[in-house]
Amino acid sequence: MTETKPAPTLLGAGVDRVDGLSKVRGEAPFPSDVTYPRLAHAALVRSTIAAGRISRITTRAAEEAPGVLAVITHQNMPRLERGPATLIGPSPVSPLQDDQVFHHGQYVAVVVAESLQQASAAAELVDVEYEVAAGVFDLDDPRGELRVDPWGSGARRGDVEGALASAEVTFEASYSTAANTNNPIGLFTTVAAWEGDTLTLHDSTQWTANVRTTIAALFGLPEESVRVHAPFLGGGFGAGLRVWPHAVIAAVAAQVTGRPVKLELTRPQMFTGIGYRPATEQTVRLGALRTGQLVALQHHATIAIGIVDENPEPVTLISQSAYACPNVDVRDDERRLNIPPPGPLRAPGAAQGTFALESALDELSYKLGMDPLELRLRNYAEVDAHSGLPWSSNALRDCYAVGAERFGWAQRNPEVGSMREDSWQIGYGVASLSYHWWQVRCEARATIGRDGTAFVRSAANDIGTGTRTVMTQLSAELLGLGLSDVRFDLGDSTMPWSPAAGGSGLTTSLGVAVDDACRSLRGKFLELAVQGPGSPLAGCSSDDVVVSGGRLHRKDDPGVGESYAEVLARHGLDELSADGLGAPPDPAQTGLALSPPFAAKFAEVRIDADLGILRVARLLTVVDAGRILNEKLARSQIVGGTIGGIGQALFEETSFDPGTGRIANATFGDYLIPVSADVGDVDVAFVGQPDPLTPVGTKGVGELGLPGTAAAIANAVYHATGRRLRSLPIAIEQLY
Ligand code: MOS
Repeated sequence: MTETKPAPTLLGAGVDRVDGLSKVRGEAPFPSDVTYPRLAHAALVRSTIAAGRISRITTRAAEEAPGVLAVITHQNMPRLERGPATLIGPSPVSPLQDDQVFHHGQYVAVVVAESLQQASAAAELVDVEYEVAAGVFDLDDPRGELRVDPWGSGARRGDVEGALASAEVTFEASYSTAANTNNPIGLFTTVAAWEGDTLTLHDSTQWTANVRTTIAALFGLPEESVRVHAPFLGGGFGAGLRVWPHAVIAAVAAQVTGRPVKLELTRPQMFTGIGYRPATEQTVRLGALRTGQLVALQHHATIAIGIVDENPEPVTLISQSAYACPNVDVRDDERRLNIPPPGPLRAPGAAQGTFALESALDELSYKLGMDPLELRLRNYAEVDAHSGLPWSSNALRDCYAVGAERFGWAQRNPEVGSMREDSWQIGYGVASLSYHWWQVRCEARATIGRDGTAFVRSAANDIGTGTRTVMTQLSAELLGLGLSDVRFDLGDSTMPWSPAAGGSGLTTSLGVAVDDACRSLRGKFLELAVQGPGSPLAGCSSDDVVVSGGRLHRKDDPGVGESYAEVLARHGLDELSADGLGAPPDPAQTGLALSPPFAAKFAEVRIDADLGILRVARLLTVVDAGRILNEKLARSQIVGGTIGGIGQALFEETSFDPGTGRIANATFGDYLIPVSADVGDVDVAFVGQPDPLTPVGTKGVGELGLPGTAAAIANAVYHATGRRLRSLPIAIEQLY
């Protein structure tokens, strides 16, 4: 047993990533690093039309090219059902099943060869002829089927039309947001290897259990026969939540060739094959009294979706509960277009919806002649306005107050266009936000062995956010061990079941499971420690014993006790394990609304009208996310999300060619993202208390940094210039 003492700052303050060194040294195995003896490589062929059918596909030249092992098209692909629906909605349709083409970039063939170069060269030789049909690419195009979002995000209460008719002040405007593409640095890769009827997959996924369930169902295998490894992921941003067609194709390619196969997407393929944030058009109607009190809130969205896909994208959901308004009507509609299937991208739905809602509130504040922060306070949701239940925890008021103080909101001159410095026009903007995170049932297992160190694990994924680190901290704290005496393993589907690293929920879901496992393991040790004739704690009740520094000892006399290792040795045991289960609290039993995390965003923009420059000088986010397990990592999440929000506000736009449906900017050279020079001072502060509904007290921070950023920036642009920009991304040209 080492002598490590648990530091008093094991939880809360910043602890460096436990896997940081292994990543920067190149030791951490990312899916694209995985290799096998006799590994073959796959290259995809993508459709060059957006709508129609394949009339002829000629593969002979590709088949005869050097090194080629197989060419798979819809003509020789095994028939697969659609994968099962999961917690986040139905699976994408299975690839290469027929001659139908629904989007530009859809996979029409895969070539498997001895080397990647041979596979890529042969893929060029696959000759495809198409019958082209008219594609639908525009959200306004009535030829695209329009339907109410089936995921139940629409809601009504009260009488919105009546309240609008009698409101003292009304406001209505339309907003639009462009499609944005997740671009994790790590190119998504699947390595598939069969051994008899057992399939091993190394996959870029945020959810090993989902890959296992989906692939097992598609191939008619028992779940135990599919093993999914994803210990490291080079970024996810939601792109790794679903099981995308390339993963299915890799498994088929390995089966057909009898070889392990690696399929690594190219950067352009990352634009068409792993989802992206869909474009929206939104209308917000507000009714208020002159005092600022909202009497009506209507928020409708139309959201782009693929022709044959499903994608829950709750754009207006945030408007249900954001403000204390008696009459509310929110609705998401979806328009089917010939576009690659969208999917989750950080704060799906909320990223777009918050822009419209928080811009509209800002516009109303000017109509009322009221400070925009004051307008939000006058409509503060003291309880969850939708369920009527009290919040389990809500420190949004502190977010406003601390933020206003720290940002210097009082220095804001309310008059539009009044703040200047040299040639700069200066504007301040604010936005409020929350994110509907979800806690899901999760499992973990904790073991302490003869050397007195702990091994805790779950099938969960660390997508770069620091899950491995915070779970090591949490386990060490609960077991009374030092950080270096705990190993936390994840990213392996044979480990206890975990939900996705997504929806800002994993730290809580997994944290509750780890909490349960560690408490239960500690309890087992306490029982054993007081048992047996040789025990220094014989006769003690386990209530008199505490654990610290790897020792179980008397509360009133730390000198009397023994180490985990000694307890095991005395009982002739090699190790002791305990399983943990985390289940979400039931609102019906607690009588509380499971609170989302909340935040307030403050932005300062500077505009040089002569030079045509728009700069985001400062962005402050004040966050109530319950208990913060690691301030450094939580802060990084909010900073990263905020920079993603600057991207949504000013740069990012996945451009579909209106004639062909081809993405015109599917490279890092053409798809603009913020670089360091575009990012001013990004400040983060945390407020609030641990949420009482879970033993871990967390509420999730992963998605919270992004929503509201674009609204705060657009609101600041209006304050600086008097120009209201309702369409993202904001381009400097829109200002003049
Ligand atoms: Mo997040 S879009 O749930 O990875």
